[in-house]
Amino acid sequence: MIKDNRNHTLAAVADTEMQQILKNELERQKSQIILIASENFTSQEVIRTMGSILTNKYAEGYPGDRYYEGCRVIDEVEELAIKRCNELFNSNFSNVQPHSGVQANTAVFLSVLNCGDKILSMNLRDGGHLSHGHKQNLTGRYFDIFTYSVDTETEMIDYENVKKLAKIAKPKLIIAGASSYSRIIDYSKFREIADEVGAFLMADIAHVAGLIAGGVYPTSVGIADFTTATTHKTLRGPRGGLIIADKKYSGLINKSVFPGTQGGPLMHVIAAKAVCFLEAMDPSFKTYSKNIIENSKALCQDMKDKSYRIVSGGTDNHLFLIDLTDKNLTGYEASEALASAGIILNKNVIPYDQLNPNITSGIRIGTPAVTTQGMGIEEMHLIADMIDFTLKNMHHSSALKDVSKKVKALAGDFPVYSGM
Ligand SMILES: Cc1ncc(COP(=O)(O)O)c(C=O)c1O
Repeated sequence: MIKDNRNHTLAAVADTEMQQILKNELERQKSQIILIASENFTSQEVIRTMGSILTNKYAEGYPGDRYYEGCRVIDEVEELAIKRCNELFNSNFSNVQPHSGVQANTAVFLSVLNCGDKILSMNLRDGGHLSHGHKQNLTGRYFDIFTYSVDTETEMIDYENVKKLAKIAKPKLIIAGASSYSRIIDYSKFREIADEVGAFLMADIAHVAGLIAGGVYPTSVGIADFTTATTHKTLRGPRGGLIIADKKYSGLINKSVFPGTQGGPLMHVIAAKAVCFLEAMDPSFKTYSKNIIENSKALCQDMKDKSYRIVSGGTDNHLFLIDLTDKNLTGYEASEALASAGIILNKNVIPYDQLNPNITSGIRIGTPAVTTQGMGIEEMHLIADMIDFTLKNMHHSSALKDVSKKVKALAGDFPVYSGM
């Protein structure tokens, strides 16, 4: 038992087993090349705040209107997070309580949809997210899902086709947003389509929130009725979600988050979101987000030069997809081989993929984490060489060991969490 300084026993034990596991994970994060487009290294200030005593407080409700006593300080935490979120995204209302991106989406659905209503969203195979209509997700179970695909030639969103589908389906909600789409999403075009058919528009900026905050990707705020985001991807904050809307929707959204879909807010995480919003307002974040895209474009071009087929031919954001079909490789085989050499990315379906999501024809590559480490164009060239070499020599364990050494050396040159 651990005792506090007045000798009262705190309900805690020295959990050496878990500490060892955490140490192992820290070592893994420090020694591998992380190219998962949705992952990042959050700051030590964010981590410290998440690990704070705010986790002890129950605060169902909203600032000034809680179901529990003792929320004076907690209210300050949430008010600060909301104020910073609005400042960062230039909005007049935000809800920072969603525990995750899916929770944020779910609250929006609850706010304007009834069971059986129609949603028009991007096909999952073409880049959409599970929470936009997968048949096992509540969207797929409780709503009538219509999907738009990317164009077969350009592999980009065909807005004329989206409009055509919207006119046929007459959805109550259109979703613009994706998990694996490497191009700019034109929210204004989606707005026009939504207006033409009388639908609400929700922009899910989970992936690009940091790029929007940094001013290097167009914003959906002020265009979409609802913008949902995660705070842990390009935004580089704690794991969590948020919703931005015009303040005329504040009552509807707040009710849908609590008590609609969640209980007590995670106040330690909300505090950490406030820290990440402050960090994202720093001029250095603009440079960071610009560098993410520069690195993404450079790595994408390198892979193209090495004769890999890039879905849609390129990238405008932090990620891109490689189609491995002509290499006689599946995404599963490639991602496993790369992982064994210490290069961590994910297998990913590509547009019109014939393979199932557990196998896939592609891999997704993202640059937010390596950019946080300070890597630049030169390192992207090295990473491209290592990916190419690994995929060409994946059955030679000595070759994989060689790459693994190079990965460790490169990661070691760009240390994260030095103080830990
Ligand atoms: C577009 C999009 N929306 C929502 C989510 C879900 O976020 P979370 O995992 O925080 O629920 C993701 C996660 O990858 C995503 O890509």
